[in-house]
Formats: sequence, structure tokens, C-alpha cells
Amino acid sequence: MSGVDLSVKIGSLVLQNPVMLASGTVGYGNEISEYTDLSKIGGIVTKSVSLHPRKGNPPTRITETASGMLNAIGLANVGLEEFIKTKIPFLKNLDSTLICNIAASSIEEYVECTKALDSEETVKAFEINVSCPNVKDGGLIFGNDVNNVRKITAKVRAVTNKPIIIKLSPNTASIKDFAQAAKDEGADAVSAINTLVGTAFDIYTKKPKIKNITGGLSGPAIKPVALAKVLEISRNVDIPIIGIGGIMNWKDAVEFMICGATAIQLGTVNFINPNASEEIIEGLKNYCLETNLSKISDLTGSYLI
Ligand SMILES: Cc1cc2nc3c(=O)[nH]c(=O)nc-3n(C[C@H](O)[C@H](O)[C@H](O)COP(=O)(O)O)c2cc1C
Repeated sequence: MSGVDLSVKIGSLVLQNPVMLASGTVGYGNEISEYTDLSKIGGIVTKSVSLHPRKGNPPTRITETASGMLNAIGLANVGLEEFIKTKIPFLKNLDSTLICNIAASSIEEYVECTKALDSEETVKAFEINVSCPNVKDGGLIFGNDVNNVRKITAKVRAVTNKPIIIKLSPNTASIKDFAQAAKDEGADAVSAINTLVGTAFDIYTKKPKIKNITGGLSGPAIKPVALAKVLEISRNVDIPIIGIGGIMNWKDAVEFMICGATAIQLGTVNFINPNASEEIIEGLKNYCLETNLSKISDLTGSYLI
């Protein structure tokens, strides 16, 4: 077999390969661009952007746990105006597919942010974060209520023709209901999962290791949970899924695709190996050659149960 077709489709969006960088783990792309060639990846998802700038939570905001980390950044970001003024010009020159992640404290704010960014040619799709566990005003308040997810999807759909990806929370009993709601209201894809609510305490001070008390757990510790959520959506809802959660190498990426993911996102691994994306793309290509797969998209949902 000569070449392997690594391209995948998410709605009308064609990605050159399924490997994307997850929101919040690579900022707006500038730092990581020194360590990896961003023109080679499938896509880059920005840190959540909100209508107004957010300072986030007070430190300590991050702590390491067994096979993972807890973070309670609290959606710190420069806000919409500054994002357009100072981040878009850099992102424009990146030669990478840019997906803008949006967070908000109200449905109107989601709509306003999407509308304002819709005219930015550099932004190829939107990922709507309805699942951040670390903010009091928004995030999981939306993500845990299927009717809110329905309303947000419908209202955002009404103001953009670009692909919409709804980022789902694992902190819910039935993730498939949320995926179905997103599909019903016109979302092009869902991404799963955001972090799981967790905590950690210092046994001598008896205080929580992060100031916010709870944070979002990410990294290899959450991979089996994430795989189960992706599989649950895949078996019940006909919508493209972007798999996220503890992916450290190409084998993890293959596992997510077998369980139903069309594409995958890398999060925590970016802090450990900022060149992981390139290595994973290479690994995926070799896996396809080794298993006689001419199109990687044939791997999606190929589980035998
Ligand atoms: C430090 C940090 C910041 C994050 N910030 C965001 C964010 O702003 N918006 C968002 O949708 N997800 C955010 N996430 C969640 C990741 O995008 C991803 O869904 C999660 O970390 C699981 O993937 P992983 O196990 O590969 O890290 C953040 C994760 C980490 C570790």
C-alpha cells in the first residue's frame, strides 16, 4: 500500500488528520509552536474565550495526582475583544485549522461570542464548552442540564453556519442524552470528555491542595472513563465524536477511534511532551500501514462487541 489517507470529516470541516490539541492546554498556540510544527496537526482548539476577560480562580490552581492532574484554572482568559485584537493575528499565520472554544455565564453570552467570531475567517469551527467544572457561574450549571444544552445549541446554531462542536461533561449519568440533544438542535459533532470533578488534600495541613477545593481531573487516570463515554455515545447517537481524555500515545488514539471517535484531542500530554501530536500522527500512519488500512476514517466505530 503506498499512501494512507489520514483525513477525517467533522460536518463540513475536513481535517488533514484526526489529531487535535485540546482547549486550555496550549493557550492560543504561541508557546507550543516553538516545540511542534502546528501545520502538521489536524487542528488546534483555543483556550475557552468568554465575552469579558476572566482572571480565573486564585492559586494554587494545579496539582499532580496519580496518573493525572487536577486543575481549577476557572476559565482565565483575555476575553473576546483582546482575543480578536491580539490573538487572532498570530493564529492567522499558523497554517493550522483553528477551532475556537467558547465559554459563557449565560445563553446570551454564548450567542454573542459566537456571533462576534463568526466573521473571523481564521476561525473554522466552534467548540462550545458547556462542561467546565471549575466555575460557579456557567460551565457545569449548563452542562448538567440537558434542556440548557438543547437551548444553547439551538441558539448558537442560529447565528453561524460554521461547524459547531458541543463539548460534553462526563459528570452526568447519561452522556448519550446530551449528545442526542446536541444532534437534534443541529450540532455537527460532540467532543467528550471534559475533566471529571475531583479533589486532593494535604494530610498534614488538612487543607485542599487546590484553593478552589475541587478541580477537574485529567490525564491517563481518566482514559477508561472517557472511552466508556465515547462508546456510549457511539452506540446510541449518530453524530461525529471527538474523543478526549488521557491520550498519551498513538495506541490510545487508536483505542478511542475504535470506540467511535472520528478525531481525538490531546490535553495533559502537551505539558509532558509538547511534540506528542507529531509522534502520534506518525504512529497512526504506521498502524494503518501495519493493519492494511487505506483510510483511517474506517477505524471509527470499528469495535467488535
Ligand atoms: C490546565 C487545563 C486547562 C483546561 N482548560 C480548558 C478550557 O479552557 N476549556 C475547555 O473546554 N477545556 C479545558 N480543559 C479540558 C481539556 O481540554 C480536556 O478536555 C481534558 O483535560 C481531558 O483531556 P486530557 O486527559 O487529555 O487532558 C483544560 C484542561 C487542563 C488540564
